[in-house]
Amino acid sequence: MNLGTVGTGWITESFIEAAKLSGKLTLKGVYSRTSDKAKDLAHKYNAEYFFTDLEEMAKSPELEAIYIASPNSVHFEQAITFLRNKKHVICEKPIFSNSEELEEAYQIAEDNGVYLFEAIRNIHTPNFRILKEKLNLAGNLRSAMLPYIQYSSRYDSFLRGENPNIFTSTYSGGALVDLGVYPLYLAVGLFGEPQKVTYHPVILSSGVDGSGTLVLEYQDFVCTILCSKISHSVIPCEIHGEKGTFLLEDAAPISEIKLIDSHTKESEILSVAQEEKNMVYECINIADIIETNDDNQYEKLKNMSKIVLRITEEARKQNNIVFGVER
Ligand SMILES: NC(=O)c1ccc[n+]([C@@H]2O[C@H](COP(=O)([O-])OP(=O)(O)OC[C@H]3O[C@@H](n4cnc5c(N)ncnc54)[C@H](OP(=O)(O)O)[C@@H]3O)[C@@H](O)[C@H]2O)c1
Repeated sequence: MNLGTVGTGWITESFIEAAKLSGKLTLKGVYSRTSDKAKDLAHKYNAEYFFTDLEEMAKSPELEAIYIASPNSVHFEQAITFLRNKKHVICEKPIFSNSEELEEAYQIAEDNGVYLFEAIRNIHTPNFRILKEKLNLAGNLRSAMLPYIQYSSRYDSFLRGENPNIFTSTYSGGALVDLGVYPLYLAVGLFGEPQKVTYHPVILSSGVDGSGTLVLEYQDFVCTILCSKISHSVIPCEIHGEKGTFLLEDAAPISEIKLIDSHTKESEILSVAQEEKNMVYECINIADIIETNDDNQYEKLKNMSKIVLRITEEARKQNNIVFGVER
């Protein structure tokens, strides 16, 4: 399938490399707001076409699927431009700023006979599948602690008084939507939609959360998600059941999974070695869904995106974190 990309950050290059590794997506065109950047990226990865006009790119008959990796608040307008031109869209997390945008975009995708996906790497990995299959080995689940705490070099710019996109409400930024979505996807993928959500953020002067604790309440079970872009942590994720505890090296891409027996304290590794370019798994799964019109799988992914966005929206609402597009 012929691929086009939007945005020229490092993540776009990671996706292009993973797409190539997948053997299912062939880079044909790239877009940048700047002609030199578009040309350079096209040259680096042997793309035939480069664009600086999004509408022109959207109309190109050479492209079938578009990967979008622009600032969060820009995703919606760009995605619907491509969907209206009958291109499948793979949009970086967090897919959009709110559920209203998401519902509208899914409708536009359906009306135009194309698919819309949120690019989230962890739920497509082999280790996520293993974890889901083996979850019952832990017995009745009682608690989980899923951190994603990663100091951002952009916080240094923020502290210098600059305005990096991800630390602004104008670009729909903040720790929960940027990093918290990884453990949140893990929670929703494994445990489903929680009954109650509570968010306790640390709000920065820009009005978005630099870090926060999200509590998801299920029946007889509580999952705590810690996310931060303003501090560093090395603690792994844990899922605690009565019979055993799962220890995950990380929430994404789930590099290693250990199961520790509650009684004997013996541990067993359940995970497999994954590709270093781990976005390859989302490339393969998404391309397969498109190629085979796998509406069943598509609906499952759609449902997860909807739940995750509902939760981050509720978390923001509780704390008066309002994005620019909502003012
Ligand atoms: N899956 C992952 O592991 C992962 C990792 C990092 C980021 N992401 C996601 O990828 C997306 C991009 O993140 P990023 O950190 O690369 O963002 P960014 O640096 O703020 O912007 C990414 C690209 O978008 C373009 N851009 C910048 N400002 C823009 C604006 N005002 N309007 C339109 N385009 C603009 C720029 O490309 P041009 O100048 O060439 O147009 C830039 O290279 C985000 O949604 C983020 O959450 C995902």
